[in-house]
Amino acid sequence: MGLKPATNPDVEAATIELTIDGKTVTAKDGVSLYDVISSTGKIIPAMCYHYTFDPFGSCGMCLVMQEGKKAPVRSCTAKATAGMIIRTEGDDLFQARKKAVEKHLSVHPLDCPVCDADGHCELQDMAFQHGVTNLANAKQKFIPEDTRSLVLDFNMNRCIACAECINVCKDVLMIDALQFMKKGGFNQVVAKGDLPLSCEFCGDCLAVCPVGAITNKFSKYLYKPWQMKKTTTTCNYCGDGCQMYLETKDTEVIRVTSPLSWKNKWGDRADTAKGHGGLCVKGRFGFEYIDSPARLKQPLLRKGNQLVEVPWLEAMHAVVDRFADLRKKHGPDAIAGLITARCTNEELYLFQKLMRVAFRTNNLDSSARYGHMNFVRASKLALGIGRTTNDWEDLTKAKAVLVIGSNLTETNPLTSVRIKEAIRVYKAQVMVFDSAITNLGKLASHPYLIKPGTEGVVIDGLVKAAIELDLVDEDSVKKHPQAFAALKSAVATVSLEQVAAKTGVALERFKEAAQIFAESPRSIILCAEGIVRQPEGYQNVLKLMDLAWITGKLGQPGCGVNTVTEEPNEQGAVDMGVAPEFLPGLASFDDQAMRDKLAKSWDVTLPPAGSGAHLTEILKRCRSGQIRALYIIGENPLATLPASMDVRAALDRLELLVVQDPFLTETGHMAHAVLPATTSAEKDGTFTNLEGRVLRVRQGMDALGESVPDWQILTALANGLGCQWEYESANDIQTEIMKLLPGYYNLGQPKKILPTADHYLSNGYAAAAAGRYRTARSENARPFTLLMGQLLYHSGKLSTLAPGLIKIAPNTGRIRMNPADMERMGLQDGAMVKITSDRGSVQAGVQLDQSVAPNTCFFPEHFNEPPLKDLMSVHVDAITGVPSFKRTGVTIEKV
Ligand code: SF4
Ligand code: SF4
Ligand code: SF4
Ligand code: FES
Repeated sequence: MGLKPATNPDVEAATIELTIDGKTVTAKDGVSLYDVISSTGKIIPAMCYHYTFDPFGSCGMCLVMQEGKKAPVRSCTAKATAGMIIRTEGDDLFQARKKAVEKHLSVHPLDCPVCDADGHCELQDMAFQHGVTNLANAKQKFIPEDTRSLVLDFNMNRCIACAECINVCKDVLMIDALQFMKKGGFNQVVAKGDLPLSCEFCGDCLAVCPVGAITNKFSKYLYKPWQMKKTTTTCNYCGDGCQMYLETKDTEVIRVTSPLSWKNKWGDRADTAKGHGGLCVKGRFGFEYIDSPARLKQPLLRKGNQLVEVPWLEAMHAVVDRFADLRKKHGPDAIAGLITARCTNEELYLFQKLMRVAFRTNNLDSSARYGHMNFVRASKLALGIGRTTNDWEDLTKAKAVLVIGSNLTETNPLTSVRIKEAIRVYKAQVMVFDSAITNLGKLASHPYLIKPGTEGVVIDGLVKAAIELDLVDEDSVKKHPQAFAALKSAVATVSLEQVAAKTGVALERFKEAAQIFAESPRSIILCAEGIVRQPEGYQNVLKLMDLAWITGKLGQPGCGVNTVTEEPNEQGAVDMGVAPEFLPGLASFDDQAMRDKLAKSWDVTLPPAGSGAHLTEILKRCRSGQIRALYIIGENPLATLPASMDVRAALDRLELLVVQDPFLTETGHMAHAVLPATTSAEKDGTFTNLEGRVLRVRQGMDALGESVPDWQILTALANGLGCQWEYESANDIQTEIMKLLPGYYNLGQPKKILPTADHYLSNGYAAAAAGRYRTARSENARPFTLLMGQLLYHSGKLSTLAPGLIKIAPNTGRIRMNPADMERMGLQDGAMVKITSDRGSVQAGVQLDQSVAPNTCFFPEHFNEPPLKDLMSVHVDAITGVPSFKRTGVTIEKV
């Protein structure tokens, strides 16, 4: 790690001067000489170098002459020191580099015609650049290809032993799945232990391999790189918003590649703090849903008991007529709409406009309601912003990260890579409180395994410990004496001993964590599904704000309270006003100034202030018959929500159910009309990622069949209902949004914000805080806690439509249990058990899983077979309306 000080704000390195090709250059003492040379704009060959990890020094290409030395030096592993005189060009260097290329080629097969890397191969480029023509002495290795991995093939005949794959996996991803092994007289890359590759399957090793030694199973032998259309777009799986290249041929997706590549190796090391350009398994190998044969290609209308294919015109006439008729007969509030946060900002904006302008109702919601809304509402109340306070760079450079209720490697893998970098490069102290033995917990300096459902109690303990140990920031609390007095009295009854007993974490550990958090100069809180998707999520986020406030971590650069979003555009959904409580720009729905602005711009009277219904209320009103027509875009409540929410009964009662989706979902099967929408690969627009960064979604291929982008269907529907929308492209919609929300399209970096809680702390805080620390956790009367959550290899239900991901992580139909619990109960892997909650019983197999904590069991939320989700009770937050249904007490019996 010796060559990293250049980017670490905590490492003081002297500024030095050295001479490169006759020019004086300043640099930080001790950084890689190669980095200094490339910072001058000069690119010298380097086949084993990549800026994301420390130099390895094996390829012998980055040679330079240093005055005073006889032989050329490898600039990547040489450290810059004051007074160095360096020459990077000259015939001697050219010949030395040429020799290195010849050496590599002498043991490299010349099978370029059948190599996927042909045309995208650094060895080819180098051979060409250095005029290597004598290949007569090439020696063959005859190493059999290793095709045991599910996603990658290893052809070690082509390997140049640069170790980039090993280093990216070990150093950047901290997974360490690969190694060199001497076999048949050659160094070969193998999965650890020479077993079939078992890893996170991110494919970053494939991305940095400069030759064709690692190949992508999905696209092998299909096309040469130049035969495919390459479109830069944003991943549609999670809120990290990774940039990717979608490589297509006509209407077929061939592969996905990443900005991380051996071709993009000369970045500034400071850039990795903003993201290293890699992808996770979902982004890289989960693309097959896009051109899946299961895609809907034609509209469907219910005729009798059947959904039958009809032309678009017939479908739209039927939908428009039914909506218009129901609105006329029963008023606007007989209609409601739900939309997925996998839609673009432009579509989300149009959706809320359609609901409010064409239907004149405020009954609308998005999938952000499943949890993100708890964070948004708390952040809006306390800080006035309604989103996270920090970007990836802040997270990477933090000195202390408090991760609570966040299994990031599974839900937001690339955010998790940023924390890994914080650990590895910036030496952050990372405290992980979780009821599962998470991947991040294993890497963290301070992992704390807590009892399930005690996240709120943990926060009580941290706030109490900060006050008890006098870790408060005087300046922050002095400004709000009343609020601080109220907080102190609110936590007066919190006993750290009781907190320790309830959470299972020793009292001293609370003190330790509070101290690390309070005393570090840049401290960040990150809370996710274990907080925002659980009961009391809203209050728990506010309590985290309390912790940040009293320790002086609000409004300070590099500090703050953050969450992650599971779907790609949950932040965009709330920013665009897809919620009954918000107008676009996160203005309150009752905000008169914004209402006036929108009414004028849209030339309409908005639905009355205070009106509207969110997801659970919409379903309730469907069941009561108050809502008669429901328009669902990309959501599948029947498959997502547990039986206790009676979704089927709600949908059954409807007089009109219109589902718009790229697939025929369980909910779609109940619909009166199903409209085929495209995926994000077939349309333009933008997503807003978890940092608040607005990222482009670009059309990579023609729409499949007769499917149409959601924004076009929304426009047609609005016009059918009497509006006069003239949008001809996503750009037209953006222009309108830009007028209403100037500055929203911050394409590139989100603006750094330093929010203040001053208004919140001096306006009603004292009264609200009093009750916040009195929430009693309902004790689990059953011996086990069943948790449902995400797997790294899946995202919602969408990923289950990608066969490659299903191959990696199929539905085993089994609950995962801790080995100790299984042994205690005499259960073998695969044994059948009966799982009983207050809502009924389900039979399932069991599967041993070391990451599951004792007395808990886990089932992936992506699958409904067996229907474990129906064992879940639902708790709806009284303030935010967020339904929590991911945890319940269960009894497990052997059958
Ligand atoms: S796919 Fe990712 S995790 Fe697996 S070996 Fe390659 S870099 Fe490592
Ligand atoms: S497999 Fe590729 S990246 Fe890995 S050592 Fe060989 S050439 Fe380098
Ligand atoms: S799923 Fe998330 S982390 Fe993975 S590539 Fe897509 S945006 Fe990135
Ligand atoms: S880049 Fe320096 S030895 Fe390979």
